[in-house]
Amino acid sequence: MKHTQLGKSEIAVSAMTVGCWQFGGGDYWGKQDQSDVDAVVHAALDHGATTFDTAEVYNNGASETSLGLALKGRRDKAVVISKIAPANCRDVRTHCEASLRRLGTDYLDVYMLHWPINKLAVEHFTSDQSILAAPPTVESAYAQLDALKTEGKIRAIGMSNFGLSQMREVAATGVRADVNELTYNIISRAIEADIAPYCIEQDVAIIGSMGLMQGVLAGKYKTPEDVRPHQAHSRHYPESRGQGTSRHGEPGCEKEIFVLVDALRDIAAGLHIEVAQLSIAWILKKPFMASTLIGSRNVETLKANIAACSVEIPDAVEAQIDTLSKPVWDLLGNSPDYYEHREKTRIF
Ligand SMILES: NC(=O)c1ccc[n+]([C@@H]2O[C@H](COP(=O)([O-])OP(=O)(O)OC[C@H]3O[C@@H](n4cnc5c(N)ncnc54)[C@H](OP(=O)(O)O)[C@@H]3O)[C@@H](O)[C@H]2O)c1
Repeated sequence: MKHTQLGKSEIAVSAMTVGCWQFGGGDYWGKQDQSDVDAVVHAALDHGATTFDTAEVYNNGASETSLGLALKGRRDKAVVISKIAPANCRDVRTHCEASLRRLGTDYLDVYMLHWPINKLAVEHFTSDQSILAAPPTVESAYAQLDALKTEGKIRAIGMSNFGLSQMREVAATGVRADVNELTYNIISRAIEADIAPYCIEQDVAIIGSMGLMQGVLAGKYKTPEDVRPHQAHSRHYPESRGQGTSRHGEPGCEKEIFVLVDALRDIAAGLHIEVAQLSIAWILKKPFMASTLIGSRNVETLKANIAACSVEIPDAVEAQIDTLSKPVWDLLGNSPDYYEHREKTRIF
């Protein structure tokens, strides 16, 4: 498993980061046994997938607790990423210390702002009027993160879902953020427009989330109707597909997506690999990607996904997928916020 340094930090992340949103179980992903989490975490460490991505909001802290339990005795072998919600940034220390307690550790390798601080993003995480009336500032949030880094509570500082001007705003605070984590997969390519070029120029690493578009790019679903409604609430689908969980008001492009997935099935079959493995190998071929985040709920799935990290697809196949996926990219545009209407994006 390849490891890549995050920007100018001392942290190296594995090509596949284990997505821990499912850990702890909850409304979005359903039940998740701790025994499966333990097995996934140990197998990941044994096979070089040393990086784990969690957040205080994932299952109301249960994801961090579950990951902490699984890492008992092996914490020093892991790179742990956690995130603070923008609404909580008035007091970063309290939230960081709560994450540390749940994870059963005294340091985080990477601590990120889960979303930039702007009205719509903050509203997504809280309805507390006192916070909405006086939201935290970027300067204060990053100054607090810097203080925690100086104390050794966090080893590197990051951003998640930050656009170009939002990354520039962080840079202007004088605090170094070494990584930006955003959605990136075959049907979500917006970051290629201006975020990836800026990150390369500034030596900011990119970790891509939802590498398999929650199973769609694993070929799990035959038709859009098969996707669980609450996982079909992104702009990829028409508003109605989310059955009340969508808020973007866009028409989506599910027809084009499922034609593309059928083509991926054929390409994968020709290479004698799984569709999920093709999707992962395509992401890792992109020079601007430090790591792709993949959620694996059991060891069998994890091992298939780890094996994908060693699959080298030919340049011609990468180019073919680039071409086949371009119509979807064109229809979705260059807003990497896949949950809000492109005119109301929280990422800019
Ligand atoms: N920073 C952010 O704002 C942000 C946003 C979203 C996600 N993330 C991070 O990114 C991680 C990954 O995203 P995600 O978990 O939402 O989506 P994902 O990795 O794209 O998809 C995960 C799901 O795909 C299915 N899957 C995985 N491997 C498979 C395989 N080999 N064959 C068939 N199906 C497979 C599983 O579905 P089943 O569970 O149904 O079996 C799994 O739960 C998250 O866990 C989280 O850490 C970050």
